[in-house]
Amino acid sequence: MSVDEKFLADLPKVELHLHIEGTLEPEMVFELARRHNVTLPWPDVGALKKAYDFENLQSFLDLYYRGADVLRDEQDFFDLTWAYLERCKAQNVVHTEIFFDPQTHTDRGIPFENVIHGITRALEKAGQELGITSGLILCFLRHLSEEAAFETLKQAEPYRDSILGIGLDSSEQGHPPEKFARVFAEARSQGYKIVAHAGEEGPPEYIWQAIELLDVDRIDHGVRAAEDPRLMAFLERKGMPLTVCPNSNIRLRVFDTMEDHNLKDLLAAGLKVTLNSDDPAYFGGYMLENFAAVQTALALSREEWLAITYNSIDASFATPERKAELLDMVESMAG
Ligand code: HPA
Ligand code: ZN
Repeated sequence: MSVDEKFLADLPKVELHLHIEGTLEPEMVFELARRHNVTLPWPDVGALKKAYDFENLQSFLDLYYRGADVLRDEQDFFDLTWAYLERCKAQNVVHTEIFFDPQTHTDRGIPFENVIHGITRALEKAGQELGITSGLILCFLRHLSEEAAFETLKQAEPYRDSILGIGLDSSEQGHPPEKFARVFAEARSQGYKIVAHAGEEGPPEYIWQAIELLDVDRIDHGVRAAEDPRLMAFLERKGMPLTVCPNSNIRLRVFDTMEDHNLKDLLAAGLKVTLNSDDPAYFGGYMLENFAAVQTALALSREEWLAITYNSIDASFATPERKAELLDMVESMAG
């Protein structure tokens, strides 16, 4: 049977690499700016969208942090998260593990609790009303100091039960995982799952460091592993998941075109590849738009799509019971 739009739409999806601040659609930027009487540097939604022409990760992050300035109250974080979860429902995303960047907000004087209460309230509602299960992963901003990361980990303590894991994001080059080895050791000792962005723009060496110094459960992105055959063999042997984000990689010019993307090679090498949307409001769409763009350019087989879906279930931090349910959903659809 061929892979068509209906197959991709019907596939039960698991998302493992999604920055909630990256789901802030331009229309919501303007809505929240009105709510809080914030003057924006763009005259209208069209002008903001025109700015979404990125040269690299940093040029995106500059805009992303500016956009996030309109997020202030608990209700804003609820509205943001709920809008994403409604998109999940529409696209058959049945389990999602969401990153949030508390330092982007606390450094502007927004209380940590506004952020976490708003997000968790939406996640709980989605569990009850939409049947979507989820987890929350707190990311340290790697362009900030180790000390600031320790402070953020401390702020998270009262919310330990609401947070599944700790991650590492923001400007990769020049901020290797080793900078955060001690704070990740502390996070690990508190029982958190560990993930880190590595090998998006940074070299394979950063992927080695994430594994050897941070003891990660998954690598976020990791596409530059392909430059190091020894690393490729190691990732395959360990079954280390990679949360690959195709549209993000094109928009941030990690690859020139989707035809040049290496995800098929990573899959063929036996790596545990998963596909994800990263910052969908900025990179041209959510899970289904990513799947469709990959299919148009790379024409994956039905077996490859099922393998990606099984990889995502396996690599998720869902409970064994939920993983069994997710597997049943895929099997009943795969026939
Ligand atoms: N890379 C690093 N940091 C980020 C990203 C990303 O793709 N998205 C949001 N913060
Ligand atoms: Zn990311």
